[in-house]
Amino acid sequence: MDVFSPFKIKSLNFRNRFIRSATHDWMGNEDGSISERQLNMFKELAKGEVGLIVSGHSCVEFPRGRAGLKQNRIDDDRFIEGYKKLADVIHENNSLFAIQISHAGLQTNKDFTNNLDPIDHNTMDKEDINTLVEAFTKAAVRVRLSGADAVCVHMAHGYFLCRTLFSDSNKREDEFGKSIANRSKIALKLIDSIRKALGEDYPIFVKLNSTGGTGEGNISTEELVGVATLLEEHGVDLIEISGGAVGSKENPIDRLNILKIEDEGYFLERAKVVRKNTNTALSVVGGIRSLSLMNEIIGKGFADFISLSRPFIREPDLVIRLKSGQEKVSCISCSKCRNFEGIRCVFNK
Ligand SMILES: Cc1cc2nc3c(=O)[nH]c(=O)nc-3n(C[C@H](O)[C@H](O)[C@H](O)COP(=O)(O)O)c2cc1C
Ligand code: SF4
Repeated sequence: MDVFSPFKIKSLNFRNRFIRSATHDWMGNEDGSISERQLNMFKELAKGEVGLIVSGHSCVEFPRGRAGLKQNRIDDDRFIEGYKKLADVIHENNSLFAIQISHAGLQTNKDFTNNLDPIDHNTMDKEDINTLVEAFTKAAVRVRLSGADAVCVHMAHGYFLCRTLFSDSNKREDEFGKSIANRSKIALKLIDSIRKALGEDYPIFVKLNSTGGTGEGNISTEELVGVATLLEEHGVDLIEISGGAVGSKENPIDRLNILKIEDEGYFLERAKVVRKNTNTALSVVGGIRSLSLMNEIIGKGFADFISLSRPFIREPDLVIRLKSGQEKVSCISCSKCRNFEGIRCVFNK
């Protein structure tokens, strides 16, 4: 078994173990809808035989849920049409498609929220929580209506749900704070609500932080396993292990200069812990660069999928290249592709 072998989750047939992890591209139209540029970029990825392509994070509430400019939105039915086109172009080229839905929570600023105060997970009341659960659920229904194969709920990188889950960022004293079970309540409430709205057969994926809510410092293994186990019990079909937060010094999401194999897979040890303690399908992201490591991860069963972000910016046809004998991605993990005019590898013409 290697990274090119197929896999199945519910009725989804994956042609290989590659996931293009969610990547905000600064390419959306000003109104938050899908642009022609995005259709072209996703078409290239699907033609490049990526097993599952996850969209960049799309906000479930506007404007307070928005984390960045030119971010796609999924807070209204009018955005379904663009996603339908995206789903079609990906399916025509035989890849699977998931849409990542997110709420920025505190990790945004007034430039993005039309000057409104960001939502604070520590002070919101029950009614606010129910409103957000409803916003996520309606967004998930739009994901299914657009023809995407799965919904991916963003619980990583310091955004709203991520901060509710972990002890370093959740400071609530009520029924939504203190214990692992309490801190997981908002996330589980919305997973249950999405499940009810989409039905038993529809795949629900989660991108989960393994390093706490703010990315500074590390949460305990007990905490990570506790959350992952609850997600599994509530029927999440795939957990993608990530970590860090935007701007974190100690735990960057996209670490720089991953050039030696020893530096690769910087969340792999966390993923192994989750694998040992759960039965959910699992992916791992973060600096995986060598085909040998990818095959080791799949072959030894440390995870079922390999998620990559930056390597697919430099080489959208990476899967075909690796299949043809290339041993390593060409991306040097400099992150200079974070370009507000649209992601672009600085080494590509
Ligand atoms: C330009 C850029 C945009 C990103 N946008 C998202 C996003 O929308 N959602 C998300 O979960 N992660 C996002 N990430 C994080 C990546 O999905 C991934 O977790 C991280 O880059 C580590 O993987 P890599 O080393 O393969 O790039 C982004 C990363 C980059 C470089
Ligand atoms: S700019 Fe190019 S080489 Fe640098 S991280 Fe981005 S894709 Fe990789």
